[in-house]
Amino acid sequence: MFTASARQYPEDKAGLYALLKKELKALVDGVKHPIPNLANTSALLWYALRDINWAGFYLMHEGQLLLGPFHGKPACIYIPVGKGVCGTAVAENRTVRVPNVHEFPGHIACDSASNSEIVIPIRHEGEIVGVLDIDSPLFDRFDDQDQQGLEALVKILEGACEWKPSPL
Ligand code: SME
Repeated sequence: MFTASARQYPEDKAGLYALLKKELKALVDGVKHPIPNLANTSALLWYALRDINWAGFYLMHEGQLLLGPFHGKPACIYIPVGKGVCGTAVAENRTVRVPNVHEFPGHIACDSASNSEIVIPIRHEGEIVGVLDIDSPLFDRFDDQDQQGLEALVKILEGACEWKPSPL
């Protein structure tokens, strides 16, 4: 299963993420506003990654995660720190990769089609300002190469955007 557009992207993950890094750098070049940058990034990922059913962002707002720009089905608005995969990534300050979300205690199911998930924190001056969240209908969709590639994309966003004051 993959979208028609994903066919235009390299099938090998090294080539795919090398291209995505170039494309994202071009998209955010000269743009400091997080909202348009995150909106374009979620669109880029949605059309480039195979076998995904949600790609987007939650941003820290008043002590919890608040839904930001995304592609996919409507999703829950607030996620407290420590809850779900997203809140766990914030609480533990690390990328969380879940091969089977049904086995993850406290997983928040926004779309019943989701079977695996990856969540990557976005940091500004050592503080988490949001997360990138990607869901897949496949089990174990995200491997080391995806994690490294997606973390590199998040680094580009961290450097490109002006995160303070909060964009929300
Ligand atoms: N599954 C996430 C919630 C957000 S949706 O996947 C879009 C979680 O457990 O944090």
